Amino acid sequence: MPIFAEAQERLFRIRTAHTEYQMCADSYGVLKHLWYGVPVGHSMDYLRKYPDVGFAGNLYEAGNDRTYSLNTLPQEYAGAGVGDYRISAANVRHADGSQALDLRYQSYAIKPGKYSIPGLPAVYADAADAETLEITLRDAASGVEVVLQYGVLPELDIITRSAVFRNTGASPVVLQKAASLCLDLPDGTWEWMHFHGRHAMERMPERTALFHGVQESSSARGTSSHQQNPSVVLCAPDCTEQNGSCIGAFLMYSGSFQTQIELDQLDQVRLVMGLHPDLFAWTLQSGEEFHTPEAVFTYSDSGLAEMSQRFHKVIREHVCRGKYQLAERPVLINNWEATYFDFNEEKIWSIAKSAAELGVDMLVLDDGWFGKRDGDCSGLGDWDVNETKLRGGLGKLVDQVRSLGMQFGLWFEPEMISEDSDLYRSHPDWAIRIPDRAPMRSRYQLLLDMTRQEVQDYLYEKISGVLRSAAISYVKWDMNRSISDWYSATLPAAQQGELPHRYVLGLYALLERLTTEFPDVLFEGCSGGGGRFDAGMLYYCPQIWCSDDTDAYERTRIQYGTSMIYPISAVGSHVSVVPNHQTGRITPMETRGITAMAGSFGFELDLQKLSEEDKKTVAAQIKQFKEYGPLIHGGKYYRLSDPFTENSAFWSFVAQDDSEVLVQGVVFRTAPNMRRKALRLAGLCPESRYQDTASGEIYTGAALMHGGLLLPQTWGDYCPVMFHLKKIFA
Ligand code: GLA
Repeated sequence: MPIFAEAQERLFRIRTAHTEYQMCADSYGVLKHLWYGVPVGHSMDYLRKYPDVGFAGNLYEAGNDRTYSLNTLPQEYAGAGVGDYRISAANVRHADGSQALDLRYQSYAIKPGKYSIPGLPAVYADAADAETLEITLRDAASGVEVVLQYGVLPELDIITRSAVFRNTGASPVVLQKAASLCLDLPDGTWEWMHFHGRHAMERMPERTALFHGVQESSSARGTSSHQQNPSVVLCAPDCTEQNGSCIGAFLMYSGSFQTQIELDQLDQVRLVMGLHPDLFAWTLQSGEEFHTPEAVFTYSDSGLAEMSQRFHKVIREHVCRGKYQLAERPVLINNWEATYFDFNEEKIWSIAKSAAELGVDMLVLDDGWFGKRDGDCSGLGDWDVNETKLRGGLGKLVDQVRSLGMQFGLWFEPEMISEDSDLYRSHPDWAIRIPDRAPMRSRYQLLLDMTRQEVQDYLYEKISGVLRSAAISYVKWDMNRSISDWYSATLPAAQQGELPHRYVLGLYALLERLTTEFPDVLFEGCSGGGGRFDAGMLYYCPQIWCSDDTDAYERTRIQYGTSMIYPISAVGSHVSVVPNHQTGRITPMETRGITAMAGSFGFELDLQKLSEEDKKTVAAQIKQFKEYGPLIHGGKYYRLSDPFTENSAFWSFVAQDDSEVLVQGVVFRTAPNMRRKALRLAGLCPESRYQDTASGEIYTGAALMHGGLLLPQTWGDYCPVMFHLKKIFA
């Protein structure tokens, strides 16, 4: 198994297929981080020799040894207040008001299988496929213990971390910071890549050199957010898609988070990732414990593609759950961009009919089917069908749609409440707001206090009631604002700082209850598009609407960034009309199809309004997606060009057994009088031969990877390109 403890030296080594992670507890009980990289088969403690560094104070027990300093040594999980001035992983306020955490090694345990975390999503694995290391640290003065948990999936080269805080002292303490991951990289030069953005433009990768000091990517919005994503990559400067070292990490959490990276005075790097400390203060009474969310990470010495492929695999196979985890996803049609709020049962019926004719599997009825909801000012919380709009009721419409051979799906925004709603009129106290302060409104709406059991019960009854009332096969779980005005009437004043995390725990509890009760329903996450696109949500919803921006060109960029961490099957992606509703841009139908196919495919338009030619294209695209869907979702994903710096976006899916390859992409602008370009493929077997299934042409893998596929002469802008090649086994 992958975890080795060398008890005498108190050295711990985690060995996965291609990586090694090392730490050791030294003679003072300080748990030093020693190594994360390629397997070295040797304790790397010999590298950890430090001089006397000015203004780096010394551990009391070190006596006159001025070279031993917590401020210079790499720490496995940095405490606070006792002489390490870099960013901390954890901090505690004690009953006497002091703030300090001096963590020293106590004990370890190795357990079969992968640990789980009460109330929080976590990577799961069969006992035979994973092992857990627990290292207990203790702050002797207060009795606060921290159990560092490491889950190891050796075949996948994945390590997970979570910490358990236990108050074994007599007095209560307040946890002020409790990170999931602390990773010190004393050697090497690193750049970092993070994913920033905004509504309708999520997960834009940005890679820069580290500056001395602290750089941060975080969300204080109560959700993981459009603006930053809870994921990060540290790259060696020469790291490319196919070569070089990188360490990727993501947090399995859907609330506020903070990722900080510090380049210190000695050019050492520390990465800390976890709950956002500004929105966190958790009281631990004597005897109580607290579990942090989980961080998941990998080291690759063969570039970003390898890192992404490992993350795709671990998320698909060890995070997502339920019937649709690995199953082919239905091709769906969503009425949002076709009708917005302006629909009735006839309009929906006619959209369904034309979709069924073209081969669509499922109709999703979006916002506006419930309560008084003809615009976004009212109705949220009243999850009863609006029979003025849907005459005959929901059951009738669902039956009609199903009679076409299609499934039916429905939109909800459970966590919200409109002031103009029956729910608000009867339970104004269920909304999150601070007494005597006007709350911030966003899209006119307020949030429900998800920590209240009666709120969770109300939503459970309403949603499960609707799902039981008709044959509904899909739920789109939306969330259309950031959270502010944190206050809950159910928490005492001293514990209001627990609300942001308790909100997420309440959300997860409700999702767990509903997904358990309705295992056959496909849940798709959403938050104004991709504002809560994180691995926490993927534990409940195997796909998430990637962005409200359906423009094919913009989507190549959004999906490029998203693919760094998240699997293609997780990316909700639809063909919509032109001019595009977000940008006004006109792109060919084929291009919109190719872009949307690199995800969980669907349509978001009124198919009746398409020309006959476009309808034929749509029918062909659906057929294509059904044919290539298993390869697209189950294959190894390669980014073949960078849509931010190049005149194209190209990507490919290589079958796990290397038997076929699908290459897709878009050439943004055609240049006149220019020679044809070649596209170099990746991930093929150099000696094998591959045949283009359209032209019959045969190439070696080496030719395709080093010379490339000759691209067609393009005409016009945003030209679609697609190749399918099969390996010749004879
Ligand atoms: C959000 C979603 C959209 C749509 C609307 C409905 O913006 O991202 O897809 O569901 O809400 O109000």
